[in-house]
Amino acid sequence: MQILHVAAECYPYAKAGGLGDVVGALPKYQNDLGHTASVIVPMHRTKFLYQHTWDTIYKGTINLGGWVLPYTIIKEQKNTLGFELFCVDINGLLDRENIYSYSDDDDRFLAFQVAVVDWLSSWQLPPNVVHVHDHHAGLIPFIMQHCFAYQQLATIQTILTIHNAQYQGMLPWSKSRMLPAWDSYAWGKLDWNNAINPLASAVKCATKVTTVSPSYMEEIRTNANGLEALFEYERGKCVGIINGIDTVVWNPETDTLITQNYTTATVAEGKLASKTALCKQFGLDVTKPLMIFIGRLVGEKAADILPQTFSEAIYQYQGNVSFLVLGSGDTKVEHQLTSLNTKFAGYYNSRIAYNEALSHLMYAGADFILMPSRVEPCGLNQLYAMRYGTVPMVRNTGGLKDTVVDIGDANGYGFKFENATVQDMIHTIGRALDLYYNYNTQLQQMRQTMMKLNFSWVNSAAKYVELYEN
Ligand code: GLC
Repeated sequence: MQILHVAAECYPYAKAGGLGDVVGALPKYQNDLGHTASVIVPMHRTKFLYQHTWDTIYKGTINLGGWVLPYTIIKEQKNTLGFELFCVDINGLLDRENIYSYSDDDDRFLAFQVAVVDWLSSWQLPPNVVHVHDHHAGLIPFIMQHCFAYQQLATIQTILTIHNAQYQGMLPWSKSRMLPAWDSYAWGKLDWNNAINPLASAVKCATKVTTVSPSYMEEIRTNANGLEALFEYERGKCVGIINGIDTVVWNPETDTLITQNYTTATVAEGKLASKTALCKQFGLDVTKPLMIFIGRLVGEKAADILPQTFSEAIYQYQGNVSFLVLGSGDTKVEHQLTSLNTKFAGYYNSRIAYNEALSHLMYAGADFILMPSRVEPCGLNQLYAMRYGTVPMVRNTGGLKDTVVDIGDANGYGFKFENATVQDMIHTIGRALDLYYNYNTQLQQMRQTMMKLNFSWVNSAAKYVELYEN
């Protein structure tokens, strides 16, 4: 089968979060299964763009309600990522340094989507499946099915994968004139609550809809930022498929970003080497259990409860624990987390940044990872952590629920708690400290168990293929 993935991000070309990781890995594993999967993303001026050579493979023009935009499709020459990577270049719109957060993002992603479909309509043999990810590509099924100029694409199967239903890319109806002429009878396929809602539109128009874990699929029927009724109505075409991880990029045996490589047999020494380096860098005590948080500092990840949790835990457990945070996001939370650096020097530190290299060292050097997420469609950090023998402490939700088994249950290897509250976190930190200080043999065994768990893409990539075949 020929599959075209459409998304805003693709690691290592451009990544802001887990979406990039998935789009950068899944196609590779689909190709390993004998299919031809490729990816198209907007052109962003990233390091990767400049470090690689690109061929121009197509030039076209789109017309967004009278705004005429020439676009160019470029392709990374050597298929470095293990699949064909294409970018849409539009001067002045899709040639920026960052992936998101420009005031004209609405226009940027509209132009991106129209250009992708326009380019597709030039293919002699169109793909069997167009697989769109999140709202940035959500209008594509509609454009293929209901814009007059692209009717020949209407029968191509489309899949939507939802990485996060909180973000829906809503546009005012006034933007509808920027779409290529479309069948006005189909307006209901764009609309949700009197706005154009690209995510809702994709749910309505795509052949199948997936979320990145089975539990999240269940949850969005009651909690999806306003789209609950839609998910309930469309449940027949929805499935949850858990994400995998790229076990080549995330491998403690070969990772060049950690202090010392290790296997299950050498996990204790291996982790200690990275922990020692981390503790030295951040002024922490290597003999104490190191708990980390990595991620966006936003409400969804419950980053707002971290400052109080850390303060209370350090007092309540008499300083027998260290915390280290890596992330960026809400300025208020960033500020609160930074102000603890001096207050709890020696017990706590934070780095307000996005830093891929440091994250590897942290997964390797930490004893525990905290993920109190209010919403977690899949969560990759717990999977990376476990691959490096780091014990997950997670809220029982979404993909966290599906991938972590509490130590109190049969064959358990982590800690789960029900609420994103300081109280639940403090209790769970207490459980983890008990394991660290009083049951070290069990902790060592757990590390080995986790490292042997199979969260590779091999299984999940096959599930997507099965879905396409259906
Ligand atoms: C989003 C979700 C996260 C998921 C990732 C990849 O970032 O918040 O839970 O793991 O997408 O699917």
